[in-house]
Amino acid sequence: MKQYINCSLKPYHTFGMEVTAYRLVEYETIEELRDLLHRVRTEWSGKPWLHIGGGSNLLFIGNFFPGVVLHSSLLGLEVVQENDQEVLLRVGSGMVWDDLVAYCVDQGWGGMENLSAIPGEVGASAVQNIGAYGREVKDLIVSVETLAVDTGERCRFSCEDCNYGYRSSIFKKQLRGQHIVTHVTYRLQKNPTFYLDYGNIRTELADRPVTLKSVRDAVMSIRQAKLPDPAELGNAGSFFVNPVVDKCVFERICAEYPNMPYYEVDESHVKIPAGWLIEQSGWKGRSLGRAAVHDKQALVLINTGNATGGEVMTLARTIQREIRERFGIDIQPEVNVIQCYTTDFDVNINVNFGE
Ligand code: EPU
Repeated sequence: MKQYINCSLKPYHTFGMEVTAYRLVEYETIEELRDLLHRVRTEWSGKPWLHIGGGSNLLFIGNFFPGVVLHSSLLGLEVVQENDQEVLLRVGSGMVWDDLVAYCVDQGWGGMENLSAIPGEVGASAVQNIGAYGREVKDLIVSVETLAVDTGERCRFSCEDCNYGYRSSIFKKQLRGQHIVTHVTYRLQKNPTFYLDYGNIRTELADRPVTLKSVRDAVMSIRQAKLPDPAELGNAGSFFVNPVVDKCVFERICAEYPNMPYYEVDESHVKIPAGWLIEQSGWKGRSLGRAAVHDKQALVLINTGNATGGEVMTLARTIQREIRERFGIDIQPEVNVIQCYTTDFDVNINVNFGE
């Protein structure tokens, strides 16, 4: 177990804000996590605590987190079942997601290749139901193991128990804050089925043979062209989720914008790309203070340099309000907003409206 006091969280999240945590602990075993959760309930009770993964879906407001931040360093990877067709792989929550994808592609095990280059870690993949290019991680999950926060008891959820939906799970909804994911078991295929019909995958592949590696490379280059690298421009990927609306709302908007892209969800619901709504509202590539909307993918808000979390929130709220006024749709953040203390007075000044 590694413990740090007054620890900078800059390397632990991708938005790039200067935030300090009073205490950060990286645990390496389930017993250590159980002990830490016990301390959260006793010695540290009354103080805020937070469990983070790769920090690719976090926005800190303020610059000092006065409690304990927990981070998993559970890293094991083990084949728990194997036959001619498939492999069941049990992975520790702290493994970097894309390292796992690269490993499976190298082994010739299919299923994760469309989810290449998504930032974050294995634990969050199961909480968030990460998705891209027509695939969601729920399509691969067999089971999720957790520790219950209140009792330290080990629990196991089947994929069905997890109630997966678009970017959602039981761990984000009904059991929010009640479980820490320790391991995830995925089912991978030895004779993979390829999913190439989403977006530009086929175009990007051109006439290269379709293999796990070529699909991974194609997805990586599509992402690279559209999504900013957090090492250069702080961001948390898609800032908002795509809104799912009633068909009557969709038809009303469609009458005015017949070329609007959309995905059918079921008979009475349609998903509309929030990136399209933001672009139509004129925000693509524009900034507000030191926060901005990315110029290649409007769903991504960026820190153009030293932006505060408050500035990013001001931009997000302004966009939300304009979309509500123009389209009558509420778009909701996908990122988790963490309220911290502010120990300087540099928050929310400099919020000039400009390009
Ligand atoms: N669009 C615009 N303008 C934009 C961005 C998008 O008009 O600035 C339109 C596109 O032309 C397209 C549609 O919106 O018709 C969808 O765009 P895209 O395929 O880029 O996907 P998305 O819905 O914006 C989702 C995920 C991404 C994932 C991509 C690709 C969510 C919240 N986001 O974005 O996930 O990479 O699909 O599968 O569902 C993430 O979660 O951080 C993330 C990047």
